[in-house]
Amino acid sequence: MMQIADTAGLRKHVEELRRSGKRIGVVPTMGALHEGHLSLVRIARERSNIVIMTIFVNPMQFVPTEDFAAYPRDLQRDAALAESAGADILFVPSDTEVYPQPYHTYVNVEQITTVLEGKSRPTHFRGVTTVVVKLLNMTTPHVAVFGQKDAQQAVVIRQMAKDLNFPVEIVVGPIVREADGLAMSSRNTYLSTEERAQSTVLSRSIQRAEELIRGGERQSSVVIGEMKTMISAQSLAKIDYLSIAEYATLGELRGLAPGLTVLVSIAVRFGKTRLIDNTIVTVP
Ligand code: PAJ
Repeated sequence: MMQIADTAGLRKHVEELRRSGKRIGVVPTMGALHEGHLSLVRIARERSNIVIMTIFVNPMQFVPTEDFAAYPRDLQRDAALAESAGADILFVPSDTEVYPQPYHTYVNVEQITTVLEGKSRPTHFRGVTTVVVKLLNMTTPHVAVFGQKDAQQAVVIRQMAKDLNFPVEIVVGPIVREADGLAMSSRNTYLSTEERAQSTVLSRSIQRAEELIRGGERQSSVVIGEMKTMISAQSLAKIDYLSIAEYATLGELRGLAPGLTVLVSIAVRFGKTRLIDNTIVTVP
């Protein structure tokens, strides 16, 4: 695996690969890699000849109260994992490559960024879409792979790519979970032993919601009520939001009409750690 830090060097290399007919795949990450990230490398491998993983802890997408400074960084470990998963190029741009000073340009997707994560974390998606556009411009891939773990992020990026006529296929890989169901996340390491034990309530409540909807429940309020009861039983859990939205528009739903594809999503705080989880269900 080749490790590159400068954009000019990367561009030159990728240009040659493209010229020789290679299909380029990219997996953007902020590092602190786990099996979730590595699964995306494998998906990219299946869909391209050359896989670029990018690692950049993007200050612009952290809201002021969040963990930017404390975000786990271990490039040596990440490089070994990326290589073991089959990445060909590890692109690790510096802050000044990504945000030369002065910096004045932002990419903002409207509407669908004001709900769910966007409501709890204003300016977060502006940071995500700005850096993703930049990473796509730097890596010039044919295909870019994102995880359903961040379902709204994937929807927002797909919309942005379409709106801006990006010649990139956006692929979304399934959520990779720990054995007890907790969705893998770089932030799981922040959990205390007790919080970690209680954190399985996210995946359990999501699974329960899916069961209810598949079993014929047609009222969002009933499903959300059950999830709320489950989560409230955990002494350390504080609900940020529980949502059942139309997947296509991210608009909240009251009634669940047959044939509708819905996104059930939750955000729960354990102390300072905020966890998210979701599932996509088509109403029978
Ligand atoms: P990061 O949190 O590092 O995640 C990188 C990619 O891995 C995202 O597409 C995310 O959805 C995916 N991912 C994380 N956990 C996963 C899991 N358990 N299963 C499957 N996929 C998972 O998301 C970001 O970084 C940033 O916002 C980024 C897109 C890189 C822009 O800065």
